[in-house]
Amino acid sequence: VVEWTVKERSIISSIFSNLDYEDVGPKALCRCLIVYPWTQRHFSTFGNLYDAEAIKTNANIAAHGIKVLHGLDLAVKNMDNIKEAYTKLSTLHSEKLHVDPDNFKLLVDCLTIVVAAKMGSDFKPDVQATFQKFLAAVVSALGKQYH
Ligand code: HEM
Repeated sequence: VVEWTVKERSIISSIFSNLDYEDVGPKALCRCLIVYPWTQRHFSTFGNLYDAEAIKTNANIAAHGIKVLHGLDLAVKNMDNIKEAYTKLSTLHSEKLHVDPDNFKLLVDCLTIVVAAKMGSDFKPDVQATFQKFLAAVVSALGKQYH
């Protein structure tokens, strides 16, 4: 079980209450699809992913980026129970979508870059460390139903 200090809780709630989901979600997913092109294989029904420009202007990808980012709300709202909160999503990604769990880490690293770029000088070392700890807990929980 991951333990959280009062300070860490306040950092996480502040990051998410100031987060522009509509901007950050699409940017993080696009970055993942461009930098790690093998992740594109799961989105073949989403339309044209021919090059970076096509990925960045694909409305289905943008909508999915927002949806995935809202998937992190589960962890924000269940900080003391992150593993259980992701049981269903973990089973979906494993048994139905067959997403390699290594890709969760790649996506959250892309997200970290996008968030850091937006926060600028507010992305202090304690914010970075807490955000990494939070995302690591989510990645671990999403990987839990893989056998
Ligand atoms: C669907 C969250 C990582 C591929 C979803 C959904 C959520 C979600 C909330 C919608 C589930 C539903 O409709 O009930 C997350 C989170 C991730 C993550 C929080 C990591 C932090 C990934 C990665 C990939 C991926 C790395 C592939 C490389 C998919 C696909 C769908 C999906 C293909 C179904 C899309 C569709 O057909 O509508 N994910 N996801 N996910 N995810 Fe993830």
